[in-house]
Amino acid sequence: MSNFEFDGCKYRNASKHQKEWVNKIISELNLKGDENILDLGCGDGVLTKQLYDLVPQGYVLGAYASKGMMDTAKKSENKNLKFQLMDINELNFSNEFDLIFSNATLHWIKDHKKLLVNCHTVLKSGGIIRFNFAGDGNSSNFFAVVKEVIKYKDFHKYFEKFINTLRNFNGRGICQQLKNINH
Ligand SMILES: C[S@@+](CC[C@H](N)C(=O)[O-])C[C@H]1O[C@@H](n2cnc3c(N)ncnc32)[C@H](O)[C@@H]1O
Repeated sequence: MSNFEFDGCKYRNASKHQKEWVNKIISELNLKGDENILDLGCGDGVLTKQLYDLVPQGYVLGAYASKGMMDTAKKSENKNLKFQLMDINELNFSNEFDLIFSNATLHWIKDHKKLLVNCHTVLKSGGIIRFNFAGDGNSSNFFAVVKEVIKYKDFHKYFEKFINTLRNFNGRGICQQLKNINH
């Protein structure tokens, strides 16, 4: 797994915006209360716990890549709320979850097609995904500058491994890819 280390306590204090952006999505989930939920890139586990509180008869699993977040997230663990260190590029569940949720994470993923195929396998029939992520067009000024700077020979070496993971990743693209998986 690549290095996705975060300090859980620092992240909790600095992630107010990430949490605010997603509250509307969570409030619109309309859960029955017995769903199994997978939270991709759950970070400090605050949102994972919020989801757990909405499914008293269900089960919630938070997947994260950062050991630094583990202590912070694990504090709220119980029988039906678990956190697991795993690479979400390599999801290994089948037909287990009613909802796959993800906030502020999927822009870290390079192969979105593979992720979506895996999500399709992970979901039970009729299951849903709710993703909130930085997609195509996000930080457009930053990427415009990077595109220009890369052209300069002196700077080129600093961008050898640079990939714009946001390019072509947006809501419409996701819908189209999911339709293709279904056929
Ligand atoms: C910005 S945080 C978002 C945390 C949380 N979802 C929130 O909204 O507060 C992104 C999280 O994604 C995790 N992450 C990034 N790439 C990952 C991967 N390949 N597998 C698992 N987790 C990953 C990072 O470790 C980090 O915890």
